[in-house]
Amino acid sequence: MGLLDGKVAVVTGAGGGIGREIAVAMAAAGARVVVNDIGINLAGSGEHSSAPAEETKALIESTGGQAVISTESVAGWESARRIVGAAIDAFGQIDIVVNNAGIVRDAIFHKMTEEEWSRVVDVHLNGSFFMSRAAADHFRIQGAGAYVHMVSTSGLIGNVGQANYSAAKLGIVALSKSIALDMRRFGVRSNCIGPFAWTRMTSVIPNNPDQEARIAALRAVGPEKNAPLAVYLASDAAKDVNGQVFGVRKNEIFLFGQYRPVRGIHRDSGWTPETVAERGMPALKGNFTPLDVTADVFTWDPI
Ligand SMILES: NC(=O)c1ccc[n+]([C@@H]2O[C@H](COP(=O)([O-])OP(=O)(O)OC[C@H]3O[C@@H](n4cnc5c(N)ncnc54)[C@H](O)[C@@H]3O)[C@@H](O)[C@H]2O)c1
Repeated sequence: MGLLDGKVAVVTGAGGGIGREIAVAMAAAGARVVVNDIGINLAGSGEHSSAPAEETKALIESTGGQAVISTESVAGWESARRIVGAAIDAFGQIDIVVNNAGIVRDAIFHKMTEEEWSRVVDVHLNGSFFMSRAAADHFRIQGAGAYVHMVSTSGLIGNVGQANYSAAKLGIVALSKSIALDMRRFGVRSNCIGPFAWTRMTSVIPNNPDQEARIAALRAVGPEKNAPLAVYLASDAAKDVNGQVFGVRKNEIFLFGQYRPVRGIHRDSGWTPETVAERGMPALKGNFTPLDVTADVFTWDPI
């Protein structure tokens, strides 16, 4: 018996990296899988190819699993509906959506173009909405369903030169929470994972000398490390887990906090800009969040 026996999963961006590992692990856990991947370069441009999705399908079938491919883009309302439709056509149902497809177009904020912003938001944030919304019609009718969204510490914590990506990823966290709130009445759950892995996406991190040791350590983190948590979250074993944000870094699993007030100040007579400056801000300052990037928070090597 596998944790996902009888389930049908759609894994987007499953032609390589983390998505491939999740698709293979879901099939090993008993799911029939739609391997979705547009087969595009890291910037989301150039020729499309079905080869990455075909390779993942072959991997699944080599161990006796069942898979079909879909090479449609997540970044369109209609194409996302066709990806979900591929699950219905092939397997008659859909139980799990893993929003994993992604591209990066890094640029320092003051040089970021409209296209760099829009393409990244289209694939990550809009794509996650389109896919989730397309599956929601089926989840609602069957009174069950699970979403797993791959987010990033670039959004949860911060990163330089990734305003488009960070904003889209943090948007997905809010999307997931909204789905969890709106659809729990139908037995539908929605959770996020902020993964770490050495894939083609992380292999483009600029190799400057002060990052060398950090990058060497990240090279040892295989994308497969993220799959067990994704399989669990998609399964009925996680029936009480909803609206949460997790992280995976090699053999560590983290639960992330979500925004809550950390300190409040009050003045009977109300505030003026001057009293905010003189009394209010000095009181709040001790609780300010530092301008951290991921490496400032995850200071130890992956273990
Ligand atoms: N690797 C990491 O350390 C890391 C860290 C944080 C977040 N993530 C996130 O995890 C996910 C997987 O990343 P990865 O490192 O495996 O990257 P990857 O580049 O290896 O895989 C992404 C896949 O998405 C596919 N894709 C791109 N645009 C698509 C579209 N419009 N429709 C369908 N498929 C599309 C690509 O063809 C590719 O196969 C991404 O959402 C990424 O942002 C990764």
